[in-house]
Amino acid sequence: MGYGGMTPRLHYFERVSSTMDVLHELAAAGAEAGTAVLAAEQLEGRGARGRTWHSPLGGLWLSVLFRPSAADGLDVISLRAGLSVAEALQTLLPVLIQVKWPNDLILDNQKLGGVLCEARWQGDVLGWVTIGVGINVHNSVPDDHRSHAIALGALVPAITVDEVTHLLLPALRSLDLRAGRLSADELRRFSRRDWLCGREIREPVAGMVQGVGEDGALLVHQGTGSSVAVRSGSVELAGSLPAGNFDHATRARHREH
Ligand code: BTN
Repeated sequence: MGYGGMTPRLHYFERVSSTMDVLHELAAAGAEAGTAVLAAEQLEGRGARGRTWHSPLGGLWLSVLFRPSAADGLDVISLRAGLSVAEALQTLLPVLIQVKWPNDLILDNQKLGGVLCEARWQGDVLGWVTIGVGINVHNSVPDDHRSHAIALGALVPAITVDEVTHLLLPALRSLDLRAGRLSADELRRFSRRDWLCGREIREPVAGMVQGVGEDGALLVHQGTGSSVAVRSGSVELAGSLPAGNFDHATRARHREH
């Protein structure tokens, strides 16, 4: 996407409720497409499905504004954004960065970050879309059995939030929200990083994940030869979560800080 030669603004804040809230306010006041909000810390960071997103100092908490005349499903946009973020981050390290439907970024079987898309409507008309990305860089990560999170800094200690921002911002700004369904090329690139593919899940339906469809649905094989397309819900694995190889190094680093 071009911006007529001028780069839209990146607003930086030390502390906000959520970069999504700040960006929605800027959008309502007329901010142009590509405008971005970065915060050092969020007090009310939002995750997918109404969850809280732990956003202390040291992480990357970034939102980017889009003004598409129409958008074909936020599910596809979220997958497309996640794929683009994973590919941009991949230039930093040799370990494969994976994507987990619908909005998780996975490194070493643990959650590295996530993507959140929010649309605002004015009546029946799409007003704007904000895409928020949270990446654990040097921040402390939730350390409990449910979360299994990891920070990029555990594998790339010299990386700064600034560098990650300047890597991700152009990748996000160039997303085409009008592109509609995932193309054959995007599906191929997604499947190379698809963390869920081939795994047995028990929620939102039981079966083995086969991949994602061009409409962004999760395709789950259900034994009887039939497949279902799942469009919403949280995935729960049928077995236990595979262990991460870098787990101990990460925890040790965080204890030092
Ligand atoms: C998820 O995996 O649940 C999505 C997490 C998205 C977090 C980012 S951080 C920047 C932006 N502001 C928020 O409040 N949330 C998103």
